Amino acid sequence: MLEAFEAQRFRENAETVLSRLEKHLSDLSIRGLELADPARLTEAARALMTTEREQPTAFDEERLAAIVDLYVRTGIQVHSPGYMGRQFSGVVPLSGVIDFVSSVVNQPSSFYEAGQLPIVAERIMADELNQFIGWDPGRFAMLTTSGGSLANLTALLAARNRAFPGILSRGNSALQAQVRPAVAVGADVHYSVARAAGVMGIGEDRIVRLPLDRRRRIDADRVRPALDEAEEAGLTVFCLVASAGTTSVGAFDPLDRLAAVAQERDLWFHVDGAHGASLLVSDKLRHRLRGIDRADSLTWDAHKMMFVPAPCTLLFYRDRERSRGAFRQTASYVFDERQDSNSALDNGDKNFECTKRPMIMPLWALWAIYGKSLFADKIEYLCRLTQEAHAILESLPDFETIHRPEANILCFRYRPERIGDDRVHEFQVDVRNRVKEQGNFFISKVDVDGVAALRVVMMNHHITSGHFHMLLDEIRKAGQPQ
Ligand SMILES: Cc1ncc(COP(=O)(O)O)c(C=O)c1O
Repeated sequence: MLEAFEAQRFRENAETVLSRLEKHLSDLSIRGLELADPARLTEAARALMTTEREQPTAFDEERLAAIVDLYVRTGIQVHSPGYMGRQFSGVVPLSGVIDFVSSVVNQPSSFYEAGQLPIVAERIMADELNQFIGWDPGRFAMLTTSGGSLANLTALLAARNRAFPGILSRGNSALQAQVRPAVAVGADVHYSVARAAGVMGIGEDRIVRLPLDRRRRIDADRVRPALDEAEEAGLTVFCLVASAGTTSVGAFDPLDRLAAVAQERDLWFHVDGAHGASLLVSDKLRHRLRGIDRADSLTWDAHKMMFVPAPCTLLFYRDRERSRGAFRQTASYVFDERQDSNSALDNGDKNFECTKRPMIMPLWALWAIYGKSLFADKIEYLCRLTQEAHAILESLPDFETIHRPEANILCFRYRPERIGDDRVHEFQVDVRNRVKEQGNFFISKVDVDGVAALRVVMMNHHITSGHFHMLLDEIRKAGQPQ
């Protein structure tokens, strides 16, 4: 059995896997998701297990190939032009290769001594990307976290701990009587922010939801009155969260105007750019995040629009000192009492994870080899394509547009004449489910103002407007009376 650890065996295994993945990547046929019945999939998976036999059988490459094939076939086909439904992307294949190196060398990256190059690469990427944010290079900080949800929670913790000193160690007893901490967010904020409020003991319902304008961005003119109202209701708002690319429609909140309010009221200003911060690397699209330099913290998911394997989230703080505020803690077995030039680079005191994947490596390697244009070109194409798709919908009488896309997310409704207002919601849900079942296209749905809409997220540069027309035909087919 111990041959499983041998280098020669490794080479053979890797070659088997590579040849299957190459086949997978070269297949550009239109397909979405082959949704398997879980019981049948369990059966198929069990049939591949040596432990299902009386005598464990010797290793054979065929079984490995079959495992890889089953894995690949049963996933959402992110590399196909039929994939238009979610925010994770078909990765740049090289980034997967680098991730594979990370898995083999297995270096957790919260501490310099365990992940030297990843920690240095994090510093380099922080400096590279901060060119687009514009913070003082000597003062800002960046760390990686396992996903945007955790980054949002981490930033909110840092914000809360700054506003209410002592709360990390003494809990709510550190609060003065009658103080009820709260967070203000746009009505379309990602659910992870409400969840973070719940986790922190603030309460999911203690979120102040700010009204949106017609473009589904926080309506900056109505923020001050909403904050006044919250204060009158006895809440102490300590943090204002804006979205740079909302999950539902990809809207960008007016960061510069919101930053002004946050500054005026001494609120921490957090920007959830999990989806849209990547637009910063494009000279043509960066303006969507105008005002980002005035934020206190920024969540940026590279596993979305930077096309690397998940998770790879970057959490930026304008002020390095504040980055330590989320988890100020001591643990003598890892945190050095007296820092030296190596341990000063550790991030273990700033992120929640102890063991953490060296998730920066795929991103850094791509940046090192291709530079920013690899990312900017694809992002610009995807945003252009989404605008084309919007224009197509505007010209069709049986479709209804809901918003003008600012990024690569587009929501719309299929409204053939026979569907009255009372059935619109239910009809969109049915259509979406049928499109998914047909298996050619994978799209999602979202409720906009309480009514379901079809949602496409253009993450794949193989998609053309021709494919979008094909999707609309598929939607029409799915909408036929059954
Ligand atoms: C705006 C926004 N914030 C946060 C998240 C959560 O990110 P993650 O899935 O990396 O936890 C998402 C995910 O879709 C998102 O769109």
